[in-house]
Amino acid sequence: MSYVDLHCHLLPGLDDGAATYDDTLRHARRLHAEGVRDVACTPHVKRDEFPGVAVREIVERVAHAQRRIAAAGLAIRLHSGAELAHADALLLPASDLERIAQGPADARWLLLECPFDGIDDDFALAAARLRELGFGLLLAHPERSAGLLAGDGLARLRPLLAHGALLQVNVCSLLGNHGLDVQDAAVRLVREGVAFCLASDGHPGSREQTLQLGFHLLLRAGASSTQAYRLTQANPRLLLRDGVTRPLFDVEQRALAAAA
Ligand SMILES: [Fe+2]
Repeated sequence: MSYVDLHCHLLPGLDDGAATYDDTLRHARRLHAEGVRDVACTPHVKRDEFPGVAVREIVERVAHAQRRIAAAGLAIRLHSGAELAHADALLLPASDLERIAQGPADARWLLLECPFDGIDDDFALAAARLRELGFGLLLAHPERSAGLLAGDGLARLRPLLAHGALLQVNVCSLLGNHGLDVQDAAVRLVREGVAFCLASDGHPGSREQTLQLGFHLLLRAGASSTQAYRLTQANPRLLLRDGVTRPLFDVEQRALAAAA
């Protein structure tokens, strides 16, 4: 197996992820042992809660962590990114957004955190701003947003999906660590083929499940081995290599084509 994890709080001392380099290296050993070969370092860019995360320092911090991990003999490639809160997405200058974007130059994308209290108008505005600035979107853990299934959360996400946004589900949600509603939502996103990839959203020291467990949870949830492979390896690898490209036709063009 060669898992690709696009969401992990592996950098030490920044947010609620790894506290120290000992935590980072211990978790990296686990990732290596469980077949994870590519890991995006995605500290929270959420200035209200984590004011110590400096966007301009993330790339260098990732490079330093990569050197430490290589020196420990671990075959893990790190990638620089962030988990962007929608409030910050509305305010950060484009140059800072570019610093935390991933993917190739012509198809950059951002990991945008779905708010826990539900998909609201501000979230839609943030997504629209990022799209207008030219960024593709990978939406982190939509299943954890209140009212995704019981309310109008999924309906509010549909227009974003039509514009090319992709969904990332958490391993811990499939595991049931956030309750039955979240677990149900995660399973439904997988079964309906709406989820594009799975990620650990790993927090060394408090949330340590890796994509290896996620692969087996997908099978248990009814996914085929091919679908589990796509969600944990092929699709996230595609995002690193090819990025998030815009749909060939946007929704308005589709409507025009349908009416013609
Ligand atoms: Fe996260």
